[in-house]
Amino acid sequence: MSHILLGVSASVSLYKACDLASKLTQAGHSVRAVLTPRAAELVSPQLFEAVSGEPAHTDEFDATRRGAMDHIDLARWAEVLVVAPASADLIGRLANGLAGDLVATAALAVPADRPRLLAPAMNPAMWAQPAVQRNVARLVEDGWRLVEPGEGHHACGDAGRGRLAEPADIQRRVEEALAS
Ligand SMILES: Cc1cc2nc3c(=O)[nH]c(=O)nc-3n(C[C@H](O)[C@H](O)[C@H](O)COP(=O)(O)O)c2cc1C
Repeated sequence: MSHILLGVSASVSLYKACDLASKLTQAGHSVRAVLTPRAAELVSPQLFEAVSGEPAHTDEFDATRRGAMDHIDLARWAEVLVVAPASADLIGRLANGLAGDLVATAALAVPADRPRLLAPAMNPAMWAQPAVQRNVARLVEDGWRLVEPGEGHHACGDAGRGRLAEPADIQRRVEEALAS
């Protein structure tokens, strides 16, 4: 059983992250989800707890967490980090070493020699933006493994590249990373 830290940001595709957490759990892994505050507005962390049987996190500054440092504990616990879906904004934060929320802080605390996977999800025009492509390229240079977004229909009505990779494909990449 491997320890998988799943970072989740606020994308319409985050329902697929629940499926990913479920698939990885059914495969025998221990999955802890960390949601950005915006992601936690779209879906309750409780859903991730229900499918994984593990605690899900979103804020380490609430009163019940005094004395704890979730970002360090989670980073030490993680054998692999997968950020899925990765929003344009979170990608920008990660590419710049910013640590303003628990997902970004925990990601920064995961040592760079441990597998870190990035599965972006966004509208095709956003994905095509030079600024987004620059940030993704920088993360790949820094050793992150990119799980390329797919092409097709988006919830906003547009079509093109930017759809979150399918959960089964992200799972395969996670398994490959664990085996490497
Ligand atoms: C319903 C909804 C769906 C969204 N989907 C995406 C998306 O797929 N990709 C993206 O980059 N931003 C998307 N956004 C915008 C982000 O949620 C927004 O940039 C937010 O600040 C990202 O916060 P986070 O990265 O901290 O989760 C969406 C917003 C809403 C309201």
